[in-house]
Amino acid sequence: MLVLTTIKNDFSKNKPLKGLKIGACLHITTETANLALTLKAGGAKVYLCASNPLSTNDNVTAFLAKNGIHIFAHRGETAKDYYTHIEKVLSYQPQILMDDGADLVSTAHKRKVSDIIGGTEETTTGIHRLRSLEKNKLLRFPVIAVNDANTKHLFDNRYGTGQSTIDGLLRTTNILLAGRTFVVSGYGWCGRGVALRAKGMGANVIITEVSPLKGLEAVMDGYRVMPIKEAAKIGDVFITTTGDKNVIGKEEFELMKDGAILGNSGHFNAEINLAALGAISHKKTKVREGVEEYQISKNRRIYLLTEGRLLNLAGAEGHPSSVMDMSFANQAKAAEYLKGTEGKLAKKVYPVPHEIDEEIAYLKLKSLGIKIDTLTKEQKTYLSSWTLGT
Ligand code: ADE
Repeated sequence: MLVLTTIKNDFSKNKPLKGLKIGACLHITTETANLALTLKAGGAKVYLCASNPLSTNDNVTAFLAKNGIHIFAHRGETAKDYYTHIEKVLSYQPQILMDDGADLVSTAHKRKVSDIIGGTEETTTGIHRLRSLEKNKLLRFPVIAVNDANTKHLFDNRYGTGQSTIDGLLRTTNILLAGRTFVVSGYGWCGRGVALRAKGMGANVIITEVSPLKGLEAVMDGYRVMPIKEAAKIGDVFITTTGDKNVIGKEEFELMKDGAILGNSGHFNAEINLAALGAISHKKTKVREGVEEYQISKNRRIYLLTEGRLLNLAGAEGHPSSVMDMSFANQAKAAEYLKGTEGKLAKKVYPVPHEIDEEIAYLKLKSLGIKIDTLTKEQKTYLSSWTLGT
């Protein structure tokens, strides 16, 4: 994570976060460890909890606890423990809330938490929740939409989710993808990434969408597009990436073939209707690590991966470090920006400033040893002129 390391070196020298308490709710992975230590190097005290009960790497928790990070998480924690840990982080009165999914920020909004300078949000689902707070005039501090930075969603959501979802699918099931009918629900950046990688491995990919524009884009990208009820009848593997709830439910389960495999790479475990799946099944058996077989009838079984939770993190290790490098560089720079603009921002959702986004792209290219061209004076003039024509 060379971009983050560059920022860490700068933070170590200049201490832009000196004396600041940062509360963070993130997936506890090796990449997150790097971010936490970067924030600490910048002078912050970091209080960390998990943003998903099944994504925590307990070795990372142990490592961070030994390295001065106040951490509250364990893999497989109950929903009660999950929220107890969030409350614990908030009990330290952090001034910046760094979130992945907006559970930390939304819990803070239900409590009396004062002196918050602002928040940062990692994921699409979290941004939706924050925009809802903003729209209802309930947002109590400014939040930086890290997810929406180009150096985040164009890479992390697309190439990160694309690869790590396939990784989770293969680690849990070890199936061959070539020749399978692979249904991806949602053609946002995550869905595009998953579809692209599944296609690359020889799967026959179907996209389901609700947006005409995205549906059209999927058609022109070479996929079959159809309603989920049609796809349900022919799919071998189903991956949800919509950020919405009950995308696959009872009616679809009833139509599925024997042996259909269901996984979710959206933030919450709400995309596959788990209650409905349980209700129509006679028996549930764990058949492999991260794979549960639901017996629907004598001749029909459906396989659910990682309890419908983020397949890429619960079934594998999440996005590789080289892509998290950019996402977490945005998080670190967003925290520095919030501190630097303390008291000046309104209670709104803000984009990551363009200069930060550009700087991260520049540093990433540099870390890869790749140089690009620069505009000549003549070209700059040409691009800013309205008088020049044919
Ligand atoms: N989200 C997706 N992949 C991740 C990772 N490796 N670390 C932290 N958050 C993530």
